[in-house]
Amino acid sequence: MQVSLRRATPADLAFIMASERQPAFAGMVGQWPAERHEAAMASADFAYLVGSADGGPPGGFAILRDLNNRSDNIGLQRIVAAAAGQGFGRPFLTAVVDWVFTETACHRFLLEVCTDNARARHVYRSLGFAEEGLLREAVKRADGSRVDQVLMSLLRPEWAAARRG
Ligand SMILES: CC(C)(COP(=O)(O)OP(=O)(O)OC[C@H]1O[C@@H](n2cnc3c(N)ncnc32)[C@H](O)[C@@H]1OP(=O)(O)O)[C@@H](O)C(=O)NCCC(=O)NCCS
Repeated sequence: MQVSLRRATPADLAFIMASERQPAFAGMVGQWPAERHEAAMASADFAYLVGSADGGPPGGFAILRDLNNRSDNIGLQRIVAAAAGQGFGRPFLTAVVDWVFTETACHRFLLEVCTDNARARHVYRSLGFAEEGLLREAVKRADGSRVDQVLMSLLRPEWAAARRG
């Protein structure tokens, strides 16, 4: 599957907001109201990317944060495959990682993932992200329960070495 990326526009917000609100993803990804998305989309500190498989309709979105970080640390704020578990997320995340290291000066691409999100952790690990440590009880879920997150990152030299094969 070939996934192409483009920068999102306000016209993509309905897709983005519906995708992050899927009941099956509750507790795995954050949800922002429209005003928060609009402000982030308009900010130079964020990049919104939409991925499409083989020239088709949008299949997922990613939000990147801290694009102007002085130490070249860029964060994956959110990634969602609208139809998860069907092989889109891996090539999509691969394209997002390539975008980050080719379109920005990023040195360290980092993310946080809940420890019980086994599918996402598998995909991140298999793309070379290293687990750096535990953010204990970092997330409070809607039912009041708390869950740990794992901090993960991929460094530019690691990405470059993987590209060289
Ligand atoms: C995380 C996410 C983007 C991955 O995209 P996806 O389309 O589901 O991923 P794919 O179908 O390409 O690949 C899933 C992989 O996980 C594996 N997998 C599926 N369920 C798994 C589980 N419970 N435990 C471990 N691995 C699992 C699959 O076997 C596959 O591995 P493979 O490529 O080595 O065969 C997507 O699942 C998603 O949007 N999830 C909801 C939102 C979310 O969790 N975002 C990340 C927050 S940090």
